Amino acid sequence: MTTPFHHEPGSFAGPVPPPGCPAHAMGAGPGGLRRYYGPEAENDPAGLYAKLRAEHGTVAPVLLHGDVPAWLVLGHSENLHMTRTPSQFSRDSRRWRALQDGSVGPDHPLAPIFTWQPVCAFADGDAHERLRGAVTDSMERIDTRGVRRHVNRFSNRLVNDFCRKGTAELVGQFAEHLPMMVMCAIFGMPEEYNDRMVQAARDMIRGTATAVESNAYVVAALTRLVERRRATPEDDFTGWLVSHPAGLTDVEVAEHLRLILIAAYESTANLIANVLRMVLTDPRFRARLSGGHMTVPEAVEQTLWDEPPFTAVFGRWAVGDTELGGQQIKAGDALLVGIAAANTDPAVRPDLTAGMEGNRAHLAFSGGPHECPGQDIGRAIADVGVDALLMRLPDLELAIPESELSWVGNIMSRHLVELPVKFAPAPQQEIDADPLAAPPRARTDWEISSSARTGNPAAPARGHARAVTPKTGPAAPATPAVPAQRSGPARLWQSVTRWWSGQ
Ligand code: HEM
Repeated sequence: MTTPFHHEPGSFAGPVPPPGCPAHAMGAGPGGLRRYYGPEAENDPAGLYAKLRAEHGTVAPVLLHGDVPAWLVLGHSENLHMTRTPSQFSRDSRRWRALQDGSVGPDHPLAPIFTWQPVCAFADGDAHERLRGAVTDSMERIDTRGVRRHVNRFSNRLVNDFCRKGTAELVGQFAEHLPMMVMCAIFGMPEEYNDRMVQAARDMIRGTATAVESNAYVVAALTRLVERRRATPEDDFTGWLVSHPAGLTDVEVAEHLRLILIAAYESTANLIANVLRMVLTDPRFRARLSGGHMTVPEAVEQTLWDEPPFTAVFGRWAVGDTELGGQQIKAGDALLVGIAAANTDPAVRPDLTAGMEGNRAHLAFSGGPHECPGQDIGRAIADVGVDALLMRLPDLELAIPESELSWVGNIMSRHLVELPVKFAPAPQQEIDADPLAAPPRARTDWEISSSARTGNPAAPARGHARAVTPKTGPAAPATPAVPAQRSGPARLWQSVTRWWSGQ
């Protein structure tokens, strides 16, 4: 097969379909190539992958915004090969021929994604090792047990904001806040966590009208933090990054904090929302949870297969002419790591309904030298956050029919717009100021995470949130630290608790 991309700016070598050809239908652009943006791609990505596989195999030519050509890598093994071979597939976007010949410019809607920055995500080789090394060495110093306790405490704080109401919208009131609270704490700037920070991160990623202003807000907060740490070293992530032997400049440290905040925020918020959606709606989870076999970490892993938080990464550029999946790739071609497509590749998952227990071969965190270094933190936030929420509100139910849930997408992610839920109103709980000083947890707590089951020391201390009498709002019954189990759906969580307690 030859490349379908003509290497003159703005033109295509693929055959132009005759008038009336179905290729002219929705989703097909110049040269009959399918668009990886617009209604078809956003509303039915799985359908689009199937058509692309049937037409092109494991590596398909697609059109990005402005009908700019790129390759979408659909095959699991082809994605692995691409991400593991940086000598052929670079992370440096300045290699993109479309940029060099001027067919895309800084005003392109995807410019915030592909514009080169001095961070590890755009670097290869020694430069990548230096920058990523500083990030991963600093991450290794994070106290994971402390992180899990922070997550548990922050989750309880968020639940306190809506628990007495009996209804909540879990994307906006839970999933989008938790990762930001945790990341601000990890960075050493807990005081910067607020609604404005959450709003700013959302803006930056979704390219809203105020994205530039929001970016300036976040960068200013991070720059102040770096200056403070340079002046007075502290024992936190920013302090470790500033003092790392790789000698990052202040700009490099601030740029990496910004990269990490964005990478961690959107992905983890999506993961939490997707796990909650699955747990609330998928009969497989309900049935298996009540049977005592499914743990929250397993639900998280299944979600990483079925609904990966990043559906694709627009982030590889061919170093020279090469072949991938039978396609001739030309130097300077752009490629997308097709995460959602790879995770559903029939070659690795002939039956999509089969559970993937214990199998972590999904590409939700990509692969090769750029594989996500924050995956354990992302998993911990989702595991502990979902666990804490279910423990506080064990009768949580979807408040609208599942068919009314809606998603919005872009080329890199697809996220749930809202997740309205209902539950019996529950009292607020006092949150310990210092989670490390928490009393040992009661065995009757909501407890299904595998980390706790295996005695992992990183497992969160639960049950340190104590019931408090609400000062305002509807009267709620006095409860013990562990919420009273309720009837109906609560049986599901009860049986899990019983299973854990060995009853
Ligand atoms: C569930 C949540 C997360 C998912 C699904 C996720 C996924 C990804 C993916 C797909 C990449 C791109 C890799 C590539 O270019 O091939 C990436 C990169 C990255 N992620 Fe994550 N991520 C998550 C959470 C986090 C967290 C919590 C952090 C930090 C604490 C983080 C830090 C990073 C960094 C620094 C990179 C760039 C690495 C490099 O280029 O060397 N991520 N992530």
